[in-house]
Amino acid sequence: MSTPFDHPRQILPPEAYFDAEWLDREVDGLFDRSWVWAATEQDLKQPGDFRTCRVMNHSLFVLRDGAGELQAFHNVCRHRGCEIVEGSGNLGSTIRCPYHRWTYETNGALHGVPNEAECFGAVPRENLSLHRAAVGAHRGMVYVNPDPEPPEPFDEWIAGLDDHAWPHDLADGSLSYAGDVRYEMHCNWKVFYENAIDGYHLGYLHNKTLGSVYPDRNVWHPVGRHTVWYSTEREGDPQSSTVLSAELADGAGATRLPGHEESFYPGVVMLFPLTILSPSPWGFHVSVLEPKTPDLTTMWTQSWTTYGSASRAEAGKAPTLISLANQEGHPMESGNFQLEDMWICEMIQRNLRSPKFKVGPMAAGFGAESPIMHFQQSVLDYLNGDAGKVGG
Ligand code: FES
Ligand SMILES: [Fe+2]
Repeated sequence: MSTPFDHPRQILPPEAYFDAEWLDREVDGLFDRSWVWAATEQDLKQPGDFRTCRVMNHSLFVLRDGAGELQAFHNVCRHRGCEIVEGSGNLGSTIRCPYHRWTYETNGALHGVPNEAECFGAVPRENLSLHRAAVGAHRGMVYVNPDPEPPEPFDEWIAGLDDHAWPHDLADGSLSYAGDVRYEMHCNWKVFYENAIDGYHLGYLHNKTLGSVYPDRNVWHPVGRHTVWYSTEREGDPQSSTVLSAELADGAGATRLPGHEESFYPGVVMLFPLTILSPSPWGFHVSVLEPKTPDLTTMWTQSWTTYGSASRAEAGKAPTLISLANQEGHPMESGNFQLEDMWICEMIQRNLRSPKFKVGPMAAGFGAESPIMHFQQSVLDYLNGDAGKVGG
């Protein structure tokens, strides 16, 4: 069956990548109602375990409540708006704001108000529960959505991913936490996203780091609004890594997971719009994109490996910041495909305002540049209020 993506073309205007008003539209239409990775289920094992996260302007936290259910709330006290919890940990059986000690049940209901009778008379409880967010879990990962009734309910958003999912279970002890870094990229979040799903550049920009991955050796499966990549270069089942990247990882002394030969590893799982999962026989990475301004994006990447030893509780506190400015030497000499990508994304971004900038013909196929149009259509669907409609 032919689809619009058989003949990919650029469908977003240049200003979508540098204009502050466009980013405001994305905040209202897309990010305020999008699913984003928030925690692992391991982080939220016991009643009272919580973890905070941010989605653009939203301060949120996910929590295992007293009944063992996952909950998500806006981390905004109903008294004067203070953030209630920080980082991660266990908050016991009540959620307590540090400012004036208003307390909430783990289901979000307002419970205690200090000096209530003297100071307030009576505070109406029914209108002052914590604002809810939506929460969902899939294969050990917990996702949050600032909108308690998102246009794509969790099961719809994640539908189909099981057919391309990874074997890792972060709870079984075979992988341990190895730390986190934050990349600072002077480009629009969509420039980075589009580069990440561009199968056409792999064999050229990355020929020293990923090897010769040409469009006929790539598979980018559209799964709803998501895209799942793997290489078909190696014998047997499709794998996450190319021959060269596997040799490099083994050569660097990384240990493979037991049973990796029998397992299927998608290399990159781009979960629209802000989450990237990267499973491999050597470990697991979760990256969350954080659009800061139209031309500044950070990406927080957490890693689990067979030899990790970092403290999970420290995650997100002060990860090492990696930017091209603090790297020595040229990115193309770094041996690091992420730095190669950052270099290209910043070069694209610098040209977006040029009157001469115009996207030319795009390479057809889901191993090449068709995923870019598929992604852009999803952005437009959200901005046009058609988020329930997948596939253009
Ligand atoms: S702001 Fe939370 S109790 Fe006052
Ligand atoms: Fe790349």
